[in-house]
Amino acid sequence: MKNLISMRDLDKADIIKLLSTAEKIESGELKINIEGKLAALLFFEPSTRTLFSFDTAMKKMGGKSLIMTGTGTTSVSKGESFSDTLMTISQYADIIIQRSPIEGAARYASEVVDIPVVNAGDGANQHPTQALLDLYSIMKTQGTLESLKIGMVGDLKFGRTVHSLCQALADFQPEIHLISPTHLRMPQHILDDMDEKEINWKEGERLENIIKELDILYVTRIQKERFADLDDYKKVKGSYILSRSMLNDVKKNLKILHPLPRVDEIDTDVDATEYAYYFPQARNGVFTRQAIIATLLGEV
Ligand code: CP
Repeated sequence: MKNLISMRDLDKADIIKLLSTAEKIESGELKINIEGKLAALLFFEPSTRTLFSFDTAMKKMGGKSLIMTGTGTTSVSKGESFSDTLMTISQYADIIIQRSPIEGAARYASEVVDIPVVNAGDGANQHPTQALLDLYSIMKTQGTLESLKIGMVGDLKFGRTVHSLCQALADFQPEIHLISPTHLRMPQHILDDMDEKEINWKEGERLENIIKELDILYVTRIQKERFADLDDYKKVKGSYILSRSMLNDVKKNLKILHPLPRVDEIDTDVDATEYAYYFPQARNGVFTRQAIIATLLGEV
């Protein structure tokens, strides 16, 4: 594994190895020391969890981070090309972790520099490190990744986390229920990928029809920033709001995941239920990202 750009770059063995490394890091069985190593965190889109959990992951292993949020204070504002910027940063850092609003930007970066590149989200395309921490959260809460019934609800068109998660689950025989407004359905190329892997998936619009059967309910935000026309956003805003009353008679093992940030799609009174797992899920991001960095730096 030289880079982590898309879940399609990983096979089942790679995924299991990464999750096992994360588990050993969390339990303290595995101590990684990357003192002297530098990660360049290049974030051209806002972030709370991905940015801070990668920075935390570096620091917990004794490494350090250089953080660039936007290009306003860099020589890009004087006309320097993106490739020259990346080449320069690769002279200082040992690994680049990049978030961009442009689909394909991480793949491009990986073709420019010789150091490992991690895709921390590229537009509406992919968010593989989120998918890995989602798998880790599913494994921790269900004790397995195999043959689970997983519902994904909300903005499946622009939500990059669900694109990566569908690909991440491909080798674990899931039954996937895709619940979204008509205009925010899962892109055809992700459905084609699932068909190719013979994944059992179904589309629907009503969460109430399926919630009682699910092991995992993965809720996503409507991605307002990806709409070209705000009127279109207003038509679908608030389409799905998970309330406590909807959790009557769900399976005991149900866990609700959300990549966060949350806007209004999960009522805050769900937070205190035994089903809510989205904040521990964010914590799992640190162990998973420690495992990703350590693997790409050749430390495990
Ligand atoms: N889940 C996620 O990517 O959150 P941030 O946008 O806050 O990094």
